Amino acid sequence: MRTLTGIQPSGTLHIGNYFGAMRPAIEAQSRGECFYFIADYHSMTSLLDPEERRRNTLGVALDWLACGLDPARSVLWRQSDVPEVAELAWILGTLTPMGLLERAHSYKDKTAKGISPNFGLFAYPVLMAADILLYDTNRVPVGRDQKQHLEMTRDIAIKFNLTYGETLVVPEAEIRDDLAVVPGLDGQKMSKSYGNTIDIFGDEKVLRKRIMGIVMDSRPPAEPKPDADRNLAVQLLRLFAPADVARDFEDRLRAGGLGYGDLKKALFEHYWNTFSAARARRAELAANLDHVHAVLRDGAERARAVADGVLARVRRASGLR
Ligand code: ADP
Ligand code: TRP
Repeated sequence: MRTLTGIQPSGTLHIGNYFGAMRPAIEAQSRGECFYFIADYHSMTSLLDPEERRRNTLGVALDWLACGLDPARSVLWRQSDVPEVAELAWILGTLTPMGLLERAHSYKDKTAKGISPNFGLFAYPVLMAADILLYDTNRVPVGRDQKQHLEMTRDIAIKFNLTYGETLVVPEAEIRDDLAVVPGLDGQKMSKSYGNTIDIFGDEKVLRKRIMGIVMDSRPPAEPKPDADRNLAVQLLRLFAPADVARDFEDRLRAGGLGYGDLKKALFEHYWNTFSAARARRAELAANLDHVHAVLRDGAERARAVADGVLARVRRASGLR
């Protein structure tokens, strides 16, 4: 049973990335083999600053390790360290109908927002399929926004197997319903591209200010709030506080008497404490970057060993060899 997922180094990671992708991925380490990579080729579809890509790539590696990725058990590598993925993407692209890519939500959303699309952005789901299929992946933990990409990956794998004979493993998405969409500070989906994030790691003062700045309505503290379950701070608190604590805050808000300021203060404290051990680990790792680079090098080697075998099967099946 192999679990694989990737995160783009296109910015600083936030708690949506953590709950949607990283935490399920870290928990999966106790259930089988885990392959996790930093999707630097993918980041090229939106980020054009080389220094920033380098910095973010290292930052994502630190985030993974600080949050509990154990390099003794799991494989962590940088996507571009196994460039064979680009060869598989080409091969899969020849089996991918244009119509399938034209229907991709993430592509349509981005072009609708006025981003002028390049070929890489259009072909993104094919590279993502290659990322997954190159490693005989069984399960892919992702947030709900990636569901369609996973369906496309399955379609492409099935098409390859029908065309050239049973070669590729058809993977399953692992989408946790309770955590599928973490809301951002404005109530929309939390996303780097919407500027509504709470970073996993960052400056205490800045983060306190962002959380205390969440906009609420103008009802006075004493007024009962029958819609307490939908309050954004309550929803976020549920991610960080034990269930009974979060429920207690929700009940007090519903009954009236709890001010929004106190609720947000509690949210900040629980958020900050959730990551305190990881924050300390991250600082230690940042002071020993040689170790982090060694983890990535070793990961690339172990990833390549699997990729070579799968690619050899693909080449043979398709008549390239
Ligand atoms: P962003 O939208 O911030 O650019 P990415 O697209 O890089 O995030 O997502 C990386 C991983 O984190 C993906 O598996 C994605 O599904 C997950 N993810 C991102 N935002 C959220 C969110 N708000 N809730 C749950 N999962 C999320
Ligand atoms: N598309 C994913 C995202 O934007 C990142 C990604 C690239 C990925 N390749 C992957 C996720 C393979 C899972 C498996 O979040």
